[in-house]
Amino acid sequence: MAHVLVTGAAGFIGSHTVDRLLAADHTVTGLDNFRTGRRANLAAALASPHFAFHELDVAAPGALATLVGTVRPDAIIHLAALVSVQESMTNPDLNYSLNIHATHLVAEAARLHAVRRLVFASSAAIYGDATDFPIRESTEKKPISPYGSAKLASEAILLGHGAAFGLTVRCQRYFNVFGPRQDPASPYSGVISIFDRRYREGQGVTIYGEGQQTRDFISVHDVARANVLAATAPGVSSGVANICTGRATSLLDVVGVFARHFPAAPAVIHGTPRTGDIIHSLGAPEHAAAALGFRAEVSVDTGLGELIHAG
Ligand code: UD1
Repeated sequence: MAHVLVTGAAGFIGSHTVDRLLAADHTVTGLDNFRTGRRANLAAALASPHFAFHELDVAAPGALATLVGTVRPDAIIHLAALVSVQESMTNPDLNYSLNIHATHLVAEAARLHAVRRLVFASSAAIYGDATDFPIRESTEKKPISPYGSAKLASEAILLGHGAAFGLTVRCQRYFNVFGPRQDPASPYSGVISIFDRRYREGQGVTIYGEGQQTRDFISVHDVARANVLAATAPGVSSGVANICTGRATSLLDVVGVFARHFPAAPAVIHGTPRTGDIIHSLGAPEHAAAALGFRAEVSVDTGLGELIHAG
């Protein structure tokens, strides 16, 4: 069994990744500064004798390197980040600090203390407004936000460190992740988290546009499993991979599932399309299957059903 250090452990993807590592009998050290993560997400993990938590800011000089030197993990899963594309537009400086500089600090902590493997939360945002589908790892990278550029820059920083210092680096390009514990607080939160909250509260939802736009929605349970594989599976070498399902789901399909579960909900309202909205996003999943043995297993239908019945 491995000892895995998870940054951003109290976040949406982080807390599910921690839960899955513990379920697979790994030892986990979790870090979070609670900027966007929530302690409640770790309720189950905190009860485990195999989990240790440290409130720590990965971007604070020296903090992570000192901890890594003390706990000596086999692998690091780096999920701590400024997670909002919108916030990266209004505060590019903070995006640089939390999404680029912090990644460099993680790479350095791994180098200084001979950590063998590093898994990074990259994003489909590095591809920008792609026009050829499905999006492959070789598709041209044209980020259209400071968030997307930071994720792309971070991949380069980590892969360079990996090649130079003998560290295995896996960059996980998540597509549209959904599931329990995703924060619906902002209008720019993931659409499924927003719809889930509104249906629960008995309110109607607004679709920006006709609803024919599609996304490659992937369950957070699949994403957590992909992270565990990348950090602990034997015979994995450095590289990048889309973490996606390879299936396109329209917003009308998503709303159709909610409407089945909430038959008394008000009718959907259609608003004007969001400025800069992309029409389609769809990833090619084959590379993750070859590199990590990962295939998404949770359908949108099943994942939405679980979300609706959670909490
Ligand atoms: C992602 C980012 C978003 C960013 C955008 C541009 C996330 C969760 N979102 O959006 O912050 O601005 O890339 O690169 O990372 N929608 C509705 N009604 C709602 C909310 C959303 O119809 O109440 C629509 C959106 O217009 C969009 C679709 O749902 O067409 C999906 O939206 P979202 O979940 O924000 O994902 P992305 O569009 O991929």
